[in-house]
Amino acid sequence: MKTINFSKINLSDEPPVREPERQYYFIAKAREYVREQAEKAGHPLTFCVVTFGCQMNARDSEKLAGILEQIGYREEADEGKADFVIYNTCTVRENANQRVYGRLGQLNRVKKKNPHMLIGLCGCMMQEPEVVEKLKKSYRFVDLIFGTHNIYKFAELIATRLESGRMVIDIWKDTDKIVEDLPAERKYSFKSGVNIMFGCNNFCSYCIVPYVRGRERSRNPHDIIREIEELVADGVVEVMLLGQNVNSYGKNLEQPMSFAQLLREIEKIDGLKRIRFMTSHPKDLSDELIEVMGSSEKICRHLHLPIQSGSSRILEKMNRRYTKEHYLELVEKIRSSVPDISLTTDIIVGFPGETEEDFQETLDVVRKVRYDSAFTFIYSKRTGTPAAIMEDQVPESVVKDRFDRLLKEVQSISGEVCSVYTNTIQDVLVETVNDHDAALVTGRMSNNLLVHFPGGEDLIGKIVSVELKECRGFYYIGDMIKK
Ligand code: 5AD
Ligand code: SF4
Repeated sequence: MKTINFSKINLSDEPPVREPERQYYFIAKAREYVREQAEKAGHPLTFCVVTFGCQMNARDSEKLAGILEQIGYREEADEGKADFVIYNTCTVRENANQRVYGRLGQLNRVKKKNPHMLIGLCGCMMQEPEVVEKLKKSYRFVDLIFGTHNIYKFAELIATRLESGRMVIDIWKDTDKIVEDLPAERKYSFKSGVNIMFGCNNFCSYCIVPYVRGRERSRNPHDIIREIEELVADGVVEVMLLGQNVNSYGKNLEQPMSFAQLLREIEKIDGLKRIRFMTSHPKDLSDELIEVMGSSEKICRHLHLPIQSGSSRILEKMNRRYTKEHYLELVEKIRSSVPDISLTTDIIVGFPGETEEDFQETLDVVRKVRYDSAFTFIYSKRTGTPAAIMEDQVPESVVKDRFDRLLKEVQSISGEVCSVYTNTIQDVLVETVNDHDAALVTGRMSNNLLVHFPGGEDLIGKIVSVELKECRGFYYIGDMIKK
């Protein structure tokens, strides 16, 4: 984002109609309110953004934080102490919703002691009408509610709340709009998520995402490239390209472009060292993409390829549009072009109608592919999705038993798979000082495995060579090689 001088914006003018200028106006306006309130309070006002769910939400939270900082709030890590707390919610599984209600109850007790505190809610859960009804009825202390499509309007919504003093609710059903050039406050100085597309058109029958994130929209490649160039100029060496289904990037652009073509363009950006992306849908993963991954210097040796189930019968009921055989062929093709690739996946157990035989098919895929790691989920019924009204919902005790067996299998395989790099030398991007031992730093290999080794804070953001001494399950202990 170019630097904007918000104090030069004339607030006696009408707000502009065009974006992002309109939001710059409201940032300037909210800044005035926040400045007055901070003066009265005798200290700067603070904010805390709490993120639930996926990397998309994490990136959205950076945008919320960026806007709040421009408005004049300072970041506060403890939500019990902040003047503005916002929950960026997830609704992919029911337990995510329960966690939000639980924490909101606690936050209400904090607000009773600090009546000037503001509470905001946004993200996927807010796109569900029943949720908003419940909040309106039983959670009147919430100040601001908005959804996934109008995050860019955050400054305007804050200004409206500060002006009116009333609960502000603004939820859109869908949008075809993508607003560029808004502020974002990165969590890490050296790596960043970059949205390349929003929404999903796949309608897997268990999944609520297409209903809460809307239809697929790709960002213009020039905007993506410009954003990455600016990030690189600001010290970023690794980007994670984000979309629900990155393999269908560009299909709906005025000038269509494939994801593989976009990757080729991003590869050319000087100073950028690593490219990651997520999530890939097996049905759209093209030969062109496999080729680009095989020849690229910068694309990381990691592919997250959700299988969801190993049973072709269940995959059909899930509306995934591939079979077990198709998936296994794809894995073989990828491994023959990119032999050192690390494969990870998502698996759901207990989808309606799943039998022991279906589950055995899933175990079979896990044993054949030998994933580096797998996220395993218990099927969660999401109201409004086709699977929610399917017959033969699997009893909880059966699902739990399958889940435990799956987890055991996944963990024992990934322990074996991960240890193959022992005694090799690998490039590691250093991310943090180790949480448990300040004499160590923690970084990631290209294949996403974590490595801990002796080193100091000055290494953060640098790619260094590390000899991997010992594998401890899912991570390595190593030693840096001095060049
Ligand atoms: N129940 C359980 N897991 C789900 N996922 C999506 N919807 C559901 C659901 N209703 C999982 C899928 C997806 C991951 C992000 O979440 O495995 O890949
Ligand atoms: Fe949900 Fe399927 Fe879209 Fe992924 S591809 S977000 S699982 S509908």
